[in-house]
Amino acid sequence: MLGLYIHIPFCVEKCFYCDFNSYKIQNKNEKKEYIKNLKKEINLYKEEFKDKYFDTIFLGGGTPSILESEELEGIFNEIYKNFSILKDAEITIECNPGTLTKKKLQTMKKCGVNRLSIGLQTTQNKNLKYIGRIHTYEIFEKNYKEALEVGFENINIDLMYSLPNQSFDEYKESLDKVIKLSPTHISSYSLILEENTKLHKMYENKEFELNSDELDIKIYDYTIDKLKENGYNHYEISNYSKNNYECKHNIIYWKCENYLGLGAGASGYINNIRYKNVDSINDYNSLLKNNQKPIEEINKLTSKDKIEEAIIMNLRMTEGIDILEFNKKYDINFKERYNTILEKLKYENLIIEKNNRVFFTRRGRQISNTVLIEFLE
Ligand SMILES: C[S@@+](CC[C@H](N)C(=O)[O-])C[C@H]1O[C@@H](n2cnc3c(N)ncnc32)[C@H](O)[C@@H]1O
Ligand code: SF4
Repeated sequence: MLGLYIHIPFCVEKCFYCDFNSYKIQNKNEKKEYIKNLKKEINLYKEEFKDKYFDTIFLGGGTPSILESEELEGIFNEIYKNFSILKDAEITIECNPGTLTKKKLQTMKKCGVNRLSIGLQTTQNKNLKYIGRIHTYEIFEKNYKEALEVGFENINIDLMYSLPNQSFDEYKESLDKVIKLSPTHISSYSLILEENTKLHKMYENKEFELNSDELDIKIYDYTIDKLKENGYNHYEISNYSKNNYECKHNIIYWKCENYLGLGAGASGYINNIRYKNVDSINDYNSLLKNNQKPIEEINKLTSKDKIEEAIIMNLRMTEGIDILEFNKKYDINFKERYNTILEKLKYENLIIEKNNRVFFTRRGRQISNTVLIEFLE
């Protein structure tokens, strides 16, 4: 499998909780210049990928839906001109309510996009405002309906929980409203209070309290059960989908397959090499102006790196590690090498070994970060 990730680092406003590589857009020229350089970057990889076929494309952000129709078309034309994309490729765009129009949605469709990922976060307008979102629930609902009218049937909705001042009942209401819309995919993330965000400062100023770990786990458990009841498979720590609607692009990450990442701050993994582009839009533009790849870091993974990374990423998925496949791919005897840890985690009821697979128990998944550390030497 081979994926293509393209990063669009612009947003209308910076949400208070967000530490992704995204910036409040200052003017239209910024986008123009960035897109010009993004196209250059695509060209720089043309030769290297001329015999390869991409299975997925993911335009992420930031807010890719901030782009005008002509800008979207320009990027996709460049992709199709330079790369071979499989006929049935999954092609996703991340969209923010408040930046979508019917015309843009129609352009996306025309460009071959067949999956949308819309960030809703929560359905109460007071909670949306508190975390700095630019839209109301009503705007989201309007955009969602327009997307259906334009013919998108594969849509993910992002939700967040344990938000400041968000009661459990309010989260339940959010989840209910989303389930009623019956999207093919739902992601539900527990808030991570990131340093260097406005929300972190608000927390330090004691403007709100965080949920206890116990309540956070209770909400997580509720989400798993509620979505299961409603026909969603819990296939990754924070991700749920109807049958056959798992996100193929993200599965490439979790299975440690190859992907090319383009755009400011994007990272990629090609033939055992992980690389990361510069975060700063200015640096990105300057490097490409000189026809240089905007890479700031390259890491060749050792066999130990690859194995540890694969354990951590594979275990994120409900299906866990396929022991036979793992042994073959990484040329090790997984059970022998990790015998002590596996026995300990099984004894503590954090993982299960069954039918040549190792996967988390529900308890293991609740505290997945702590469990995964055990595998790092
Ligand atoms: C790449 S981000 C942003 C996508 C898009 N720009 C948006 O805001 O809808 C994808 C998702 O990650 C989640 N997310 C972002 N920051 C988070 C944080 N600090 N804690 C938990 N989830 C977060 C949000 O649900 C968000 O929609
Ligand atoms: S719109 Fe998305 S990427 Fe932009 S600041 Fe908000 S959460 Fe971050």
